[in-house]
Amino acid sequence: MDKFLITGGTPLNGKISISGAKNSALPCLAATLLTAETITLHNVPYVKDLITQRRLLEDLGATVLTPELRTHKVSASNIEIFEAPYELVKTMRASVLALGPLLARFGQARVSLPGGCAIGTRPIDLHLKAFEQLGAKVSLESGDVVARAPKGRLIGADVNFEKVTVTGTENVMMAAALAKGKTTIHNAAREPEIFDLAELLNKMGARVRGAGSETIEIEGVENLSGAQHTIIPDRIETGTFIVAAAITQGNLEITNCEPAHLKAVIEKLRETGVEIEELNQSTLSVKCCPQGLKGKNVTTEPHPAFPTDMQAQYMALMTQAEGDSVINETIFENRFMHASELVRMGADIQISGNSATVHGKTQLMGAPVQASDLRASASLVLAALAARGETVIDRVYHIDRGYENIVRKLSSVGANIKRINDSSEQKTAEQKTAEAV
Ligand code: EPZ
Repeated sequence: MDKFLITGGTPLNGKISISGAKNSALPCLAATLLTAETITLHNVPYVKDLITQRRLLEDLGATVLTPELRTHKVSASNIEIFEAPYELVKTMRASVLALGPLLARFGQARVSLPGGCAIGTRPIDLHLKAFEQLGAKVSLESGDVVARAPKGRLIGADVNFEKVTVTGTENVMMAAALAKGKTTIHNAAREPEIFDLAELLNKMGARVRGAGSETIEIEGVENLSGAQHTIIPDRIETGTFIVAAAITQGNLEITNCEPAHLKAVIEKLRETGVEIEELNQSTLSVKCCPQGLKGKNVTTEPHPAFPTDMQAQYMALMTQAEGDSVINETIFENRFMHASELVRMGADIQISGNSATVHGKTQLMGAPVQASDLRASASLVLAALAARGETVIDRVYHIDRGYENIVRKLSSVGANIKRINDSSEQKTAEQKTAEAV
């Protein structure tokens, strides 16, 4: 199993380029199931979760060509199977995004019910309730969700989400695109990835209005056609590298990003003292302030507020800030797994319910630590870059799910980071990417 070996203490300096957004490429790839025509997606990140999503499409009968590593040409003209099996769903919950498109286009879908994950129980009850509102019959059979559109086609309806759900909104947008009549989604998620999916759907001939706001209206159409689309930059990867510059007191230029997509993160980090300048619409310059960082409280909430996917990275930064900071996690009930690992490195953090108090500033020391989920592993990498001595991070397969070439990107700006694995013969994922590029 791969591990990272990091020796901390080097300020990062240089340029880092951002990859496409994992959480946009996943629903956009699922949307290719809505048409028999070819969809070409550019700027698809080369990360494990997208490899899994591609495999799911191929298992369903789609062909996926990659003329370039980050371009996917998908044709779902010969879909014969309408099932996302447990084997796949248990490795990636976002496989549930196949439900909406399969149900909408073929009137049936069978998807293994995702179990809980490290950060929470994460039910999909709101997705299923919404499909029932669109006229589907939904049942649970041996751990699988079985959904059918009795009339062979879903019927547009009002969907009112009691809770904001990102993939729930995406699933219903895709299902409603081919439904009969109009669907209105109330209390919709407003993440930039939702807007990006709507852009693709409208290029395919759908009629989606209001994406990015709390109310989305979709006028169903008979058929959807082929299209080309470029995936937006990854705002969470961008936020992670802003913190990398700040926590190492470095100086980074972050290119190919979209500052407008992470306003709340940039505002909060500026409050703590990080100097962030927008050089242009796709480039940020980040310096850590000479006066040092100040502890600031934060609460995670749906977009456009501070994202839960930046909470762990922010906690790592707050261990290097003067004073206390209280971090409230309101989205997932179990998303502080990284805190105990940061404490192993010398941080001073108290957890009480969904609130963590970080007492800064403490000197972090290198130690063997273990990643528990994607963003937790990113926070351990950031802490290790700031720590004195060597840190070994185990289970980095979590980070490969959502960060493309992170060892190469960080090494290119001066980080002392290596990927090691039990048997040196085995080529690491990154070595394969490096050779493939
Ligand atoms: C998406 O997950 C992202 N994943 C997550 O990113 C992100 O943390 C999350 O949105 C919140 O921003 C993808 O886009 C692939 P939700 P999703 O449905 O859609 C509850 C990462 O690190 N809920 O918005 O699964 C749920 O339990 C990942 O890249 C229900 O109760 O999250 C949670 O408490 C991690 N019933 C809250 O709503 C439902 O049917 C928000 O979840 C659906 C959700």
